[in-house]
Amino acid sequence: MRATALASEGVSGSGGLSVIGLIDARAPHRANIKHALGALYDIVAFEDSNEALTWMRKAEPALVILDEDVKPMSSQSTLEAILRIPTDKRPIIVCTSAEANSTFLPMAKQRGASATLAKPFTRVQLVDAIASLITDSIEKGWNKLGEQPRQALTRTLDLFAGMATGLSDGTRVPYAQVQECCAPLVSAIDDGCCLEILKALRNHDNYSFVHSMRAATLMALAGSAMGLTQEERLVLAAGGLMHDAGKMAVPVDVLNKVGPLTEHEWKLLRLHVDVAGQVLLRDSDIPKGVRMIIEQHHERLDGSGYPKGLKSEEINPLVRMAMIVDIFTAMTDRRPYRPAVTPEAALKAMQDMTGKIDTGLLMLFRDVLLG
Ligand SMILES: [Fe+2]
Ligand SMILES: [Fe+2]
Repeated sequence: MRATALASEGVSGSGGLSVIGLIDARAPHRANIKHALGALYDIVAFEDSNEALTWMRKAEPALVILDEDVKPMSSQSTLEAILRIPTDKRPIIVCTSAEANSTFLPMAKQRGASATLAKPFTRVQLVDAIASLITDSIEKGWNKLGEQPRQALTRTLDLFAGMATGLSDGTRVPYAQVQECCAPLVSAIDDGCCLEILKALRNHDNYSFVHSMRAATLMALAGSAMGLTQEERLVLAAGGLMHDAGKMAVPVDVLNKVGPLTEHEWKLLRLHVDVAGQVLLRDSDIPKGVRMIIEQHHERLDGSGYPKGLKSEEINPLVRMAMIVDIFTAMTDRRPYRPAVTPEAALKAMQDMTGKIDTGLLMLFRDVLLG
């Protein structure tokens, strides 16, 4: 039962979307906002402010978008009613207005709204504002986790800030810092906190961090199923954390592109492996096993991968497992332009990748998720 839940609920990158309440008297405005945010959050829209308040007290949404144009209660009274909700249950408040010289927005900001947006705003402005507020509250929520999961998450977030700087100015990322992230991560997995970590990552807006942390968590889990030593599991987890670091140098438009990539965009994307090798690994004390995961995670056993087209006998078991976990993680990640594939569907699709990935290790990984 517990193991089945691991795949169907916990491992999914999109289960448990943050709930957002939307109060706006105008139907076209509600439709626009639902369209803009619907793939990323669970939006519950209201025309009636009283109904919204009744729902809010029960549902405890993460955030509420309150427009100036609401009825029957005025936007100001609705705001005051939301502010009377106890702080630990009160949603983040974002206020919007289509009025040219709105007095509501400055007042709302002064009373405690976290953000205000004057209409018309673009989808990107809305998504950015909401994502950063939700991310702040997710990171604050990590304080409630146990010592090991909390350390793994917060230290890895710091590591990613350091790697982003390292890619732009060439600063070396010391391996000791990577180990300081991986040691609590592996301990947390040993203590059965895998789902806790995966859930704590949901709805966080730093995709590079989320993908890598999910991959590292699942690699540490898979490593125990493979019967690896503690040292090897640390290498696998470190490889998971660092494997896509080079993507921080790839243009966001390419990373988030909806639809097929052009030949040039593919080249840019594939460069993430070389960038990591040339910048992050230069003069670095990162051990060979981790380097191999970074440099070979897009190789495939039949030689069809990149950058070198290595074949099965040239690819070691740690890299083979890293390959499987990376593919699974990427498929089950939530992206702004598509919903996550379910864990079951991802595993099924991977069973058809005959010849490209290690089927024995895939079965092992499947067993650890499905029980
Ligand atoms: Fe990659
Ligand atoms: Fe990846």
